[in-house]
Amino acid sequence: MTPNSLPGPRPWPVLGTNGNLLSFVLDPLAHVERLFRQYGPIAALVRGRSRRIASPGRDTPAIVFVRGPELNRALLSDAERFHKTPLSGPLYPGQGATERTRPLLRVMTGLFNVNGEEHRERRRLMLPAFHKSRIDQYRDDMVSITEAVIERFELGAVRNIRDDMTELTLRIATKTLFGADMREQGLSIARSLASWMQAFRPAAALPYDAPWLPYRRFLELSRSIDVQLGELIAERRRLGSGADVLSMLLEARDEQGAPLGDDELVGHTGVLFAAGHETSANALCWTLFLLSQHPRIVAELREELASVLGGEAPRTDQLGSLPLLEGVIKESLRLLPPGRLNHRIVAQPAELGGFAVPAGSEVITSVYHTHRDPELYPEPDRFRPARWEGFDPGPYAFSPFGAGSRMCIGSAFAMMELKIVLAILLQRFRFELDQDKPLDRVISIVMAPKPGLFMRVHRGDHALTSSAGRRRGNVWGMVALD
Ligand code: HEM
Repeated sequence: MTPNSLPGPRPWPVLGTNGNLLSFVLDPLAHVERLFRQYGPIAALVRGRSRRIASPGRDTPAIVFVRGPELNRALLSDAERFHKTPLSGPLYPGQGATERTRPLLRVMTGLFNVNGEEHRERRRLMLPAFHKSRIDQYRDDMVSITEAVIERFELGAVRNIRDDMTELTLRIATKTLFGADMREQGLSIARSLASWMQAFRPAAALPYDAPWLPYRRFLELSRSIDVQLGELIAERRRLGSGADVLSMLLEARDEQGAPLGDDELVGHTGVLFAAGHETSANALCWTLFLLSQHPRIVAELREELASVLGGEAPRTDQLGSLPLLEGVIKESLRLLPPGRLNHRIVAQPAELGGFAVPAGSEVITSVYHTHRDPELYPEPDRFRPARWEGFDPGPYAFSPFGAGSRMCIGSAFAMMELKIVLAILLQRFRFELDQDKPLDRVISIVMAPKPGLFMRVHRGDHALTSSAGRRRGNVWGMVALD
């Protein structure tokens, strides 16, 4: 079978495969939806040589989208054949690192960028930090930081909840990961990391160190991140061991008894920091948005919270006794998953769904579309937390945290954080969506509300008002409302 037998559109006249990519970039979600509708559960966005999405400086033989539990399993359960973005590509300096590119090498050395034995070894070192007994210890920090952030919520006023949730999860991340509740320093690293991710593609297109090229800025950002993370690590070393993830990494030893080198420590902390707060912030935002449109579910949830928690913040032993809260979070992660796509690079020639996929291709599983399969989830576009009572569709049908050997290492941490924050917020307040602002999705690494999530904050009461007024923005097309 040849690669061309993959179903998918032809290259555009004149623009060629760039035309296919352009149409995708303009509205990724809508474009992938059209592909699946026209070609089925495996569809090539691009067939034949084109610029890679993950590493645009390199050609790739095909860019393929898949959906559904079987294809998801085929892709995510075979980590030898399907790699995560590998430590290669035009931006990775490797052995040839110079003084200028060395920070880049360190920043790129996190768990996201390694495969095979290297990935297994590094993940093994990190796993104990995410063990249940360990993350239970973060409960008090999660509670006290949430209390501190919501103290300034003014009743009756409209606020951008996205900013609040970003600050909240950032502070929780810095405290539990690095042992310090950081505001300015944490924000500064988060901003640098966000700019770094935005600069990645333009820098990869022309990786030359010249003053007018984005690559120069990319190197400067890498240096700044490297310095800031290096300072954090030095500070942790100076203060001695604590109950945070970084302390655990500092104590970790490989099979030969050697500690992690500074390069690896910078890489790990950067990935943990990047992966560990924006995803949770957006999951909280989308859940509050969905709840604002379903006041009856909010009323039921408040009853559950009141009967189990009686107005207090949850203890870890109570988190398993809140089935509706769990259903609400899972339903939100199903409908509006922050990580709606999961990428792999084909390391060896592969077969997927009966089609040959050449090595070097990029395969992307659409978590968003798998989560909307009507055979798995009746009335898939509706927010129905009750569907999760005694229901388990399996790890490849519900994969907001990925699945297989690379599944999100922080998933239990994230679920605990989402439950604690929501339980505190919803016992204290009712959130009404501000009808004057449009609500769009912006899709970069994670799917986030744009221009933010503007909500009026009320005292927690049983009012059954839904804030659906003028529904402007493309988010409304993603959820069916009564
Ligand atoms: C709602 C919150 C979160 C969501 C939706 C989420 C989602 C994901 C997804 C989809 C992946 C990729 C899995 C794959 O490649 O197959 C991932 C990986 C990862 N996540 Fe999360 N995540 C969340 C929170 C966190 C937190 C709180 C942390 C750390 C404190 C974290 C750390 C990581 C790491 C280190 C990886 C790489 C794992 C590996 O490659 O072995 N995540 N996450």
